[in-house]
Amino acid sequence: MVLNKFIDTGQSLSENEIKAIKKSWRILAQIDPAIIGDVFYRKLFLSYPRYKHMFPLDMKAQSLKLVHMLNQIIMRVENLESMNQILKELGSRHIGYGVQMSDYEAVGKSLIWTLAQTLGSDWNEELESSWSLLYAHVSQKMTQN
Ligand code: HEM
Repeated sequence: MVLNKFIDTGQSLSENEIKAIKKSWRILAQIDPAIIGDVFYRKLFLSYPRYKHMFPLDMKAQSLKLVHMLNQIIMRVENLESMNQILKELGSRHIGYGVQMSDYEAVGKSLIWTLAQTLGSDWNEELESSWSLLYAHVSQKMTQN
């Protein structure tokens, strides 16, 4: 797990890292987004049960929203200004949900775990560091209000 290494380092994604993320996302796009979301939230709640009460009972819509948002983020990975705008708005809404800065690490770990599990043999160290860097950027922008 390399998540912490990237937080607040100000590093940006290289062309190869962007390519790797996009390629992995094309593979994930073949999986039903409800399943990806389901795996993610099950992992999050199993590892960190304290977050369960923050979410609705019916998690299907939430799963779809999460994957849709990740898609929006990845579509903007080469247009940081546009990405940062949606992250700022998403981050403001998360303050309203009671999310704190310290919660982002648990979500990041569960997300990276989910990506690794769903990509299986297509997952590798380069992807782990690229996605971790992207997540660090996302969480930084979401909490920079
Ligand atoms: C990369 C980071 C994250 C992404 C992309 C993300 C994405 C989303 C999306 C798309 C929604 C749907 C509503 C909306 O768009 O405002 C949502 C809602 C929510 N998220 Fe996140 N989120 C992230 C981090 C977190 C963290 C760290 C927590 C803390 C546990 C969290 C907790 C919640 C809660 C409680 C809701 C509202 C659920 C409800 O009552 O409907 N999220 N998130």
